Amino acid sequence: MHERLSAERVAGTRGPLSASGPAAAHSDWLAVRPALIDLASLPYRRAGRFAYHFARGKLRGDPVFRALLERGLLHGRAHILDLGCGQGLLTAWLRAAAHCHERGIWPRGWPEPPRARTIRGMELSAREVARARRALGAECAVEQADIRGAPFGSAEAVMLLDVLHYMSPESQRDVLERVRAALPQDGLLVLRVGDADGGVRFRLSRWTDQVIALARGRGLLRLHCRSIGEWQELLRACHFDSTAQPMSGGTPFTNVLLIAQAA
Ligand SMILES: C[S@@+](CC[C@H](N)C(=O)[O-])C[C@H]1O[C@@H](n2cnc3c(N)ncnc32)[C@H](O)[C@@H]1O
Repeated sequence: MHERLSAERVAGTRGPLSASGPAAAHSDWLAVRPALIDLASLPYRRAGRFAYHFARGKLRGDPVFRALLERGLLHGRAHILDLGCGQGLLTAWLRAAAHCHERGIWPRGWPEPPRARTIRGMELSAREVARARRALGAECAVEQADIRGAPFGSAEAVMLLDVLHYMSPESQRDVLERVRAALPQDGLLVLRVGDADGGVRFRLSRWTDQVIALARGRGLLRLHCRSIGEWQELLRACHFDSTAQPMSGGTPFTNVLLIAQAA
């Protein structure tokens, strides 16, 4: 029922969207955004109140979801692997984007959303995996696995959003080396990290991680963070060329998106 309501909302969004140019694209985005967030988060009602409200809050507040679509980062990548995928929000977001785009509800000037043939997720927490499966259906490919050891298979793009700082420096390097081995020559890694040189805002993001972990009964975390320069050096050592883009707009954090091409 919720998906039907949401589809009605999409259909009710006014189109064609306004004239061209950055200001028009932004106003198009403001028109499309509520439908996209509804569509992507409503399946999580099946997974309980927490999962639903978490999905809405995260999709609303985290700038990475818009950036992935606006910049066409995953365009043309048929096989995507989302490591540390949590409750599978990326899959839900890309499904919602495809749905909106098919109905002509899409910001003018934005690239088409990615049409991946497979989106596989790997996630350590059994609870998150259960939420992902309940929301996204039995056909969703979210596997409970520890990415520090699980085989990755092959992919054209790998996502690692806010995950690597949970593991030791040695595991970070090992994971990145195995990600590189899973990708072809022009493969893409999208990595989001906090900038350890980010001062008070960085400390606030680490504190937030700790509070969330405590609230979820995971106890005190040992986090392993680096400056952006150090992350890029590690990426180079693992045979990636990377560019860094700020990715904390609208939040008090110092997050950075590292867009890394397999060299
Ligand atoms: C901050 S959340 C980010 C979730 C998701 N990437 C997103 O952006 O919505 C970090 C996730 O990484 C997962 N994680 C941490 N260490 C992991 C490991 N060794 N293997 C698999 N998942 C892991 C956590 O369980 C958690 O769901």
